Amino acid sequence: MDVITVIRTKRDRGRLSDEQIDWVVDAYTRGVVADEQMSALAMAILLNGMDRAEIARWTAAMIDSGERMDFSSLARPTADKHSTGGVGDKITLPLAPLVAACGAAVPQLSGRGLGHTGGTLDKLESIPGWRASLSTEEMLAVLGDTGAVICAAGDGLAPADKKLYALRDVTGTVEAIPLIASSIMSKKIAEGTGSLVLDVKVGSGAFMKSLADARELAATMVGLGTDHGVRTVALLTDMSVPLGLTAGNALEVRESVEVLAGGGPADVVELTLALAREMLAAAGLPDADPAKSLADGSAMDVWRRMIRAQGGDPDAALPTSREQHVIAAPATGVLTALDAYAVGVAAWRLGAGRARKEDSVQAGAGVEWHARPGDHVQEGTPLLTLHTDTPEKFPYAQEALEGAFSVSPEPTAFTAGPIVLDR
Ligand code: URA
Repeated sequence: MDVITVIRTKRDRGRLSDEQIDWVVDAYTRGVVADEQMSALAMAILLNGMDRAEIARWTAAMIDSGERMDFSSLARPTADKHSTGGVGDKITLPLAPLVAACGAAVPQLSGRGLGHTGGTLDKLESIPGWRASLSTEEMLAVLGDTGAVICAAGDGLAPADKKLYALRDVTGTVEAIPLIASSIMSKKIAEGTGSLVLDVKVGSGAFMKSLADARELAATMVGLGTDHGVRTVALLTDMSVPLGLTAGNALEVRESVEVLAGGGPADVVELTLALAREMLAAAGLPDADPAKSLADGSAMDVWRRMIRAQGGDPDAALPTSREQHVIAAPATGVLTALDAYAVGVAAWRLGAGRARKEDSVQAGAGVEWHARPGDHVQEGTPLLTLHTDTPEKFPYAQEALEGAFSVSPEPTAFTAGPIVLDR
């Protein structure tokens, strides 16, 4: 087999054979196929696509590149959730302990933020002492003791995807449905969860900007999960406006704890409950009542135990940024828009995210907005607060936010749409 023929096949809009796929994924993982060759192939896939059978084989080859985990020794059914990435998307933080409090086991292998979308591990690392890297034994112990664990995937899980995702990130080849679907599903299938709920984001702050693309991605991933015996459901949810009232690491932990304490922004609570209901139904627990577990404090109890089990102090003060800058409402009226992508870029530029994998993030950096579209705002009062330890970044964040929000004097200028767009 030679890699040039594989690249030419896809470049010329051909189908890759099973043998070609198995060989190229394995050879790339072993370093026999070079990064520049794989990036040419990834670009050919982005431009010319793959059919369902090619995607299924590519996913299976990525799963087979590493180990598979096994949760069959747990007494509880397992349920996991994956979001395709958004701005202010802190839902995993309240969701995992909530679903555990309702009786499922939640093995939540999560990632770090890259670009304008935040990462769950970066957020949790703002809690003093909390550790993202656990051995398989430690992970199983936390899961068995508390019902939920949120940690980094070990190096042995789908190593082909680890290499390929890092390469796609620097070669403009992330936004390809076959590559996104196989990347996400290879990790989730190798992880060994019994059921999976996918939160496929749609809108300016998401990879998928249109409902049609998001629907195709969702259908592809549900098909892959189902074929591998994982009960898989997808919700399509709105990411044109950022979730909640904050984007940033410690800022989002604070908001998640508010949700677990029975408060928090209404959209975050609504989406957390919608995803919890789907996860519990997929795990065979359709009668569990997540709203009750939020209200009676049992989800908060699981959160506290889960954070402690990973070395964190749930009572410690969260870090705050050294500097803040307030952007005032430009007029009096109804806030009619707040663009998710612009807010994500501003938070990233302030230090909440990273431009390269090896960059570090600031725990306290990010953006806080004091109104959501549909709210009434008063000219001159705070609309957004920017947080950073590096104030020289304020002008770049402000530049990202130019044209990102608008205020109308017309009281009926904004009609709220649903968060869950489809199932
Ligand atoms: N998240 C992943 O894990 N992989 C992708 O390709 C995109 C988002």
